[in-house]
Amino acid sequence: MASVTSLTSSVHQRLSDALVAALPEAGTGADPLLRRSDRADYQANGILALAKKAKANPRELATQVVEKIVTGDLLADVEVSGPGFLNVTVTDRAITETLAARAADGDRLGVPTKDRPGITVVDYAQPNVAKEMHVGHLRSAVIGDALRGMLDFTGERTIGRHHIGDWGTQFGMLIQYLIENPDALAPAAEDAVDGEQAMSNLNRVYKASRAVFDADEDFKERARKRVVALQSGDKETLDLWQRFVDESKVYFYSVFEKLDMEIRDEEIVGESAYNDMMAETARLLEESGVAVRSEGALVVFFDDIKGKDDQPVPLIVQKKDGGFGYAASDLSAIRDRVQKLHATSLIYVVDVRQSLHFKMVFETARRAGWLNDEVTAHNMGYGTVLGADGKPFKTREGETVKLEDLLDEAVERATVVVREKAEKVGLTEEEIVENGRYVGIGAVKYADLSTSPSRDYKFDLDQMVSLNGDTSVYLQYAYARIKSILRRAGESAGPVAHPELALAPAERALGLHLDAFGDTVFEAAAEYAPHKLAAYLYQLASLFTTFYDQCPVIKPRPAQEIAENRLFLCDLTARTLHEGMALLGIRTPEKL
Ligand code: ARG
Repeated sequence: MASVTSLTSSVHQRLSDALVAALPEAGTGADPLLRRSDRADYQANGILALAKKAKANPRELATQVVEKIVTGDLLADVEVSGPGFLNVTVTDRAITETLAARAADGDRLGVPTKDRPGITVVDYAQPNVAKEMHVGHLRSAVIGDALRGMLDFTGERTIGRHHIGDWGTQFGMLIQYLIENPDALAPAAEDAVDGEQAMSNLNRVYKASRAVFDADEDFKERARKRVVALQSGDKETLDLWQRFVDESKVYFYSVFEKLDMEIRDEEIVGESAYNDMMAETARLLEESGVAVRSEGALVVFFDDIKGKDDQPVPLIVQKKDGGFGYAASDLSAIRDRVQKLHATSLIYVVDVRQSLHFKMVFETARRAGWLNDEVTAHNMGYGTVLGADGKPFKTREGETVKLEDLLDEAVERATVVVREKAEKVGLTEEEIVENGRYVGIGAVKYADLSTSPSRDYKFDLDQMVSLNGDTSVYLQYAYARIKSILRRAGESAGPVAHPELALAPAERALGLHLDAFGDTVFEAAAEYAPHKLAAYLYQLASLFTTFYDQCPVIKPRPAQEIAENRLFLCDLTARTLHEGMALLGIRTPEKL
């Protein structure tokens, strides 16, 4: 594994060195503020501010900086422009050599890993036991999975926590019903239970028990007692509870598999897992004075969180009947993640509507000392999924849409698109089915990931599987097209870098963008912003299209070295697309 310094970093270093040489008082930290630019390869705007600080003339300072810069190997030209900007052009040779070093580094493409990686616990993909998954759970799963992909790539260690809703008063009702109707959960057919079957069993029991619960006061009382038995660890009760959890997991796994997403059993650590810690969490908060007793409950108050009539809204750690709820489980989870898993960052990918809950939980944990400057917590509150009409996503009948139906439809539509071109590309029926799945699921993931997580986004299947515009299908086709170019060229030429060749403008633009892959992943990971990686990949595909239009690769056939160098650019583009999409959890079929 040989990591490669990006051209941007190298240029940055050269400019900083020259800056310090021209203006020693600026110190080594002086930032030339380098940006990619249309006029040259880069523009540096930092001299303006530095000159102002040093009471110097910015154009003069810029000229002095240029005098200190060594051109030749890396830099072709550095020019002063406007009030004191620098326009920087790198050499063609530096571009090709840097890319060749990337190409020699396998899957990592020369991207280094962090010097001091931390441990990030990502709380995502957290559906609820005995309940159907909905589009909100889809967002959490897709965003969380992409974040992990990017963070892992930077060398950070990520640990997943699927904080599933597997605890709470509703289990008293469900378990009591099962005790009184022992066959209720059994599958309708004898054959192995699949995900859909499991969910329909659970749905049936949920509805039936709810009906009895609402109609029968005695049952209600028995259900209440059952909650107490569950919380105090009664064996029979726990065994039945486990059946609900297991049945639900069959369903969850079937959905995650449909989503082409790997979920590990040991990372499914739901609310119930913290049950044994909750009393201690409450005690620690009460003893330290972070939480106080109020009307029998144990609560935490906040100066800046007020509800109606300006009354403070507290976080309830323990209810007055002694029960613990959602907040106690989240507070205990923080202790576990920080103290046992040694996390340095906690990320929660949870609906923005829960942001007040997390604000209170995090603040409480900070007051208790569980979170501090070394361990930070962040809620990536995501927006609502809207229908094509811009309203919250519902069926025509006004019901919430079943996640599975949605994914099935996406795959169906994508398969139609794939089939249209299948003959030309020479796909077998099996490949059509497989590609339909990768294109359909990729479309759903990409539509989510290409918008900033905090924004609402439209679930519009027509748009998602469109071949034009910023869609995963467009990127997948770009990838497959490059693979086909490489196959066609195969006999006569292969990808070989030729640093001695001069590059055409479209080659330089593509090359500079290819080189920025690692920097982009680091930035997107640090900001928890998968949409920045998505935007990078989209632009990569667009730059490739321009390059392929302007620079013939196969027909008309260029000179051998030029053909090889262009195939080299093709190959590196394909590999970068493949790696970038993989980090987002999206497949790139070889033929499409
Ligand atoms: N199960 C919850 C829901 O469906 C999400 C859990 C989020 N994570 C957490 N640590 N509270 O809304």
